[in-house]
Amino acid sequence: MTNHTTTPDASASGQAQDDNRPLVELRHVEKHFGDLHVLKDINLSVRKGEVLVVLGPSGSGKSTMCRTINRLETIDSGSILIDGTPLPQEGRDLTRLRAEVGMVFQQFNLFANKTIIDNVMLAPIKVRKVPRQQAHDEAMELLARVGVDSQASKYPAQLSGGQQQRVAIARALAMHPKVMLFDEPTSALDPEMVNEVLDVMLELASEGMTMICVTHEMGFARKAADRIVFMADGQILETGTPDEFFDHPRTDRAKDFLSKIIEH
Ligand SMILES: Nc1ncnc2c1ncn2[C@@H]1O[C@H](COP(=O)(O)OP(=O)(O)OP(=O)(O)O)[C@@H](O)[C@H]1O
Ligand SMILES: [Mg+2]
Repeated sequence: MTNHTTTPDASASGQAQDDNRPLVELRHVEKHFGDLHVLKDINLSVRKGEVLVVLGPSGSGKSTMCRTINRLETIDSGSILIDGTPLPQEGRDLTRLRAEVGMVFQQFNLFANKTIIDNVMLAPIKVRKVPRQQAHDEAMELLARVGVDSQASKYPAQLSGGQQQRVAIARALAMHPKVMLFDEPTSALDPEMVNEVLDVMLELASEGMTMICVTHEMGFARKAADRIVFMADGQILETGTPDEFFDHPRTDRAKDFLSKIIEH
């Protein structure tokens, strides 16, 4: 295993420095899939406590960008920093840094053969070496926070989609991430379950969690976002407050995107 040296424990020393510091930074990030140029000179900085909503048409690179942030996808060039520390290519440093980024996908990806409580306890025990009883107590607290503690001993298939997605959020939170990434967390849900998941996300946002959310829920975007990032063709075309973006989009691509969304 290669030992990538970075600044000695930047995460610990960074804490004391600056509460306004960027927790996630992408600098000149480039990514191709074969001939397809999916991320083009992406520059993005997300402050501690900031809620960023990423919007854009299908295929614009939103998921790919999210996936690069916890290194589910490699990048061709540029750099990604989590709380000041460059994301390493591999090894134990990567595992540690990745644990600081919680991710919730469209598909809940819970372990089907494990109970709800076990799903939430698993990573803290395996990765963070949390003692079993403590992991259990914390998991129960988190399940209560997202409103599914009564389901703790069931299996994922016995829960509704909305409940499973709330478990997925609790599972990500169990690692005490510094930032949470959400990639269309409500798109696979029946309409009546969308709000129960968005409510959990709104609460997290109001508690000061740093969040990057890809979503098509414009109501949520307006309510929760500190900043909107609009992507098209692998580029960030606009960033602004929700009012700026929704009321005064600057580019034709954004105007076109918004006109289509609003027609629905
Ligand atoms: N593993 C892959 N291999 C090859 N091409 C890929 C891969 N993943 C994504 N792509 C392509 O990269 C482009 C960006 O995809 P991405 O999933 O990031 O878009 P998106 O903005 O999340 O779209 P959507 O709104 O549909 O989820 C698309 O053209 C997609 O087909
Ligand atoms: Mg996507």
